Amino acid sequence: MILNETYALSNGVQIPKLGLGTWFIDDGDTAQAVRDAVEIGYRNIDTAQAYGNERGVGEGVRTCGLDRDDLFVSTKLAAEIKDHDGALAAIDGSLSALGLDHIDLMLIHSPQPWADFRGGDYAEGNREAWRALEEAHQAGKVRAIGVSNFLEHDLDNILGSCTVAPQVNQLLVHAGNTPGDLLAYCADENVLVEAYSPIAHGALLQHPEIAEIAGRYDVSVPQLCIRYTLQLGTVSLPKTANPEHMRSNAEVDFTISALDMATLRGMQALDYGEHRAFPVYSGK
Ligand SMILES: NC(=O)c1ccc[n+]([C@@H]2O[C@H](COP(=O)([O-])OP(=O)(O)OC[C@H]3O[C@@H](n4cnc5c(N)ncnc54)[C@H](OP(=O)(O)O)[C@@H]3O)[C@@H](O)[C@H]2O)c1
Repeated sequence: MILNETYALSNGVQIPKLGLGTWFIDDGDTAQAVRDAVEIGYRNIDTAQAYGNERGVGEGVRTCGLDRDDLFVSTKLAAEIKDHDGALAAIDGSLSALGLDHIDLMLIHSPQPWADFRGGDYAEGNREAWRALEEAHQAGKVRAIGVSNFLEHDLDNILGSCTVAPQVNQLLVHAGNTPGDLLAYCADENVLVEAYSPIAHGALLQHPEIAEIAGRYDVSVPQLCIRYTLQLGTVSLPKTANPEHMRSNAEVDFTISALDMATLRGMQALDYGEHRAFPVYSGK
């Protein structure tokens, strides 16, 4: 069963292959969503400073009845923080908001602040933020560190100067958006990819070609989408606060054929319309 499966990060830390995304779950609803997910068997919870629900995630983790060490909790340093001292303070802020004594994985949310996504040069700021993550890692506050939305040159910037290499890159990966070269580059650098928005924020629910493929496997569109990202070798992070959706999203013990994987991989990119330059926020 997928909920019991893990990947090993480059530092040996085990990360569950399927996680619960929590973006757009209100802080007040998040603790219950985490408890529901844990009861169903989820052990990997993904949040971010920017989601405004670290408090709820922490409450869910502390009240779900499991030992802290049985859960994998990720959060992300706000994309706007590009200085060492600010990053150190924000890491402590996450620990405090979560009410936990350590975080399993902390990522730099984006190489650029959201207001300048894929814009200016933040190379130095990212190295400074990274240095803070390395210190938090060294201090035992964070068990693994990584990045998100980093392209090849953004990764090279860190790899060229770090003392701890990024263990994860969390990226937009779904049928219709499979960044093959970047996935290959991450694999070469021993950076595990986490697929965010595996259902394209819900947009793939309406996709006729994907529905046709899902129908042939007798699975739902979300199940096909999640299985696709898992078969790419990524962690899959579907978001839902609905326990029925959580349950069915974890029933993905089927195999997509090589032919269908190739079709899904080659599927034309979704048209993100006005959000083309910034697909992170599209569909919302
Ligand atoms: N690093 C980044 O920059 C970044 C950016 C975006 C997202 N993320 C992470 O990735 C997670 C997932 O991405 P996302 O929230 O954008 O989108 P997603 O997981 O691709 O799609 C979520 C949508 O799919 C629906 N859904 C999920 N399971 C379903 C099911 N079984 N049946 C029907 N509908 C279903 C949800 O509706 P219901 O809620 O009604 O189930 C929701 O509308 C986020 O929550 C966050 O943790 C990271």
